[in-house]
Amino acid sequence: MKKFDKAFTFGTATSSYQIEGGATEGGRTDSIWDTFSATPGKVFQGDHGGIACDHYHRYREDVQIIKKLGVESYRFSMAWPRIFPEEGVYNQEGMAFYKALIQELKANDIKPVVTMYHWDLPQWAQDQGGWASRKSLKWFSEYAHKVFEELDGLVDSWITQNEPWCAAFLGYHQGVHAPGHRNMEEALKAAHHILLSHGQTVKLLKETFQSDTPIGITLNLTPFYAASDSYNDQIAKNNADGYTNRWFLDPIFRGSYPSDMINLFSKYVHDFSFVQPGDLETISVPCDFFGINYYSRGLVEFNGAHDFLQAAAYSDYEKTEMHWDISPSEFQELIRRLRQEYTDLPIIITENGAAYPDQLTEDKQIHDPERTSYIQKHLQAIAELNEEGMNISGYFVWSLFDNFEWAFGYDKRFGIVYVDFDTQERFMKDSAHFYRKVVREREV
Ligand code: FCB
Repeated sequence: MKKFDKAFTFGTATSSYQIEGGATEGGRTDSIWDTFSATPGKVFQGDHGGIACDHYHRYREDVQIIKKLGVESYRFSMAWPRIFPEEGVYNQEGMAFYKALIQELKANDIKPVVTMYHWDLPQWAQDQGGWASRKSLKWFSEYAHKVFEELDGLVDSWITQNEPWCAAFLGYHQGVHAPGHRNMEEALKAAHHILLSHGQTVKLLKETFQSDTPIGITLNLTPFYAASDSYNDQIAKNNADGYTNRWFLDPIFRGSYPSDMINLFSKYVHDFSFVQPGDLETISVPCDFFGINYYSRGLVEFNGAHDFLQAAAYSDYEKTEMHWDISPSEFQELIRRLRQEYTDLPIIITENGAAYPDQLTEDKQIHDPERTSYIQKHLQAIAELNEEGMNISGYFVWSLFDNFEWAFGYDKRFGIVYVDFDTQERFMKDSAHFYRKVVREREV
């Protein structure tokens, strides 16, 4: 058995568009995900987040579920189009929802960890270029200002941005996430502006608001491995790492973009003048912690027909329903590398979890041994890393609920709590009972 010390935080995580529903209520306007979901062929079976887990109406009941789990902390995100339904128009009713949620959490001794952006950009902002436009910095600053004005002091920690790689590259380069564009130049600009918005928001909190509420960013990181020792496969691995990890880690922790990737990107983009003097200083502003979402390793091989000469290779690892390799020891290698090459900041695992095709039994049970084992292995990996002094200070299971899994709609269930989307009933899965025990006993 491995122990977690008293200071270690256990939590669960969700995001606004994936659970809230209430899409047209409280003055909210469309986000890019409403638009994307309504576009035929973009999301599995035309699913959308219009109702999702109906959390907008059921948040009180949902807080009781979190309480029953016994976790100290709950990570959720705020829907920007609830707060600014139109450009420059602040909506108090949208803010009131988050105030009420935070109040409910605090009344139940659960610490709110708030993500300010988890992909639901207001459609009005996208209509003017979205993250690819430098105007996004002004829009985000106005939003962040209101959020801090109203909520700082009530929340335990702030996360500025969730997974800029997904928001920028899945959204603007690969086109599989909203807004569904396939344009490398837009993607690079979006990535840059998202990172800048992070730095700018940290400064806003620390300098303008003089606040000491901890603040950081969350990246999705994937440790890449080469399918063989061949020189070409090593190149593939380096490029995959550059595209997914270093393009974000380097500016945040070193204040520069990796030069090998600038070379590769310049095949698609000729003008990098969107990176302006002072930007990298802002992006690399010191934070209080570093958030990581970890799901899987990546195995790649050389492929001349693909972007950056790399493509996924066959892997014989055991997989989750997403076809993602279960790879807790590669997770450990990733953390050790971050400690060596990038940062001493406390690391919080802000997401980790697995999708499996769950079945609700007649007596309303969900036996999910694979998910339980996935969570157990990663928690064990964390406890071992902490024995090595790696300073991981918290862990948030993704996800509290089955929810709208982006382009996969409701087809993929990541929750430790099952949601019957016909009745909106919630049922704790075996993995939730397991997690509850880990949290109570502080050992795994
Ligand atoms: C992450 C996202 C989260 C969820 C999980 C499975 O990339 O942050 O919203 O979709 O993957």
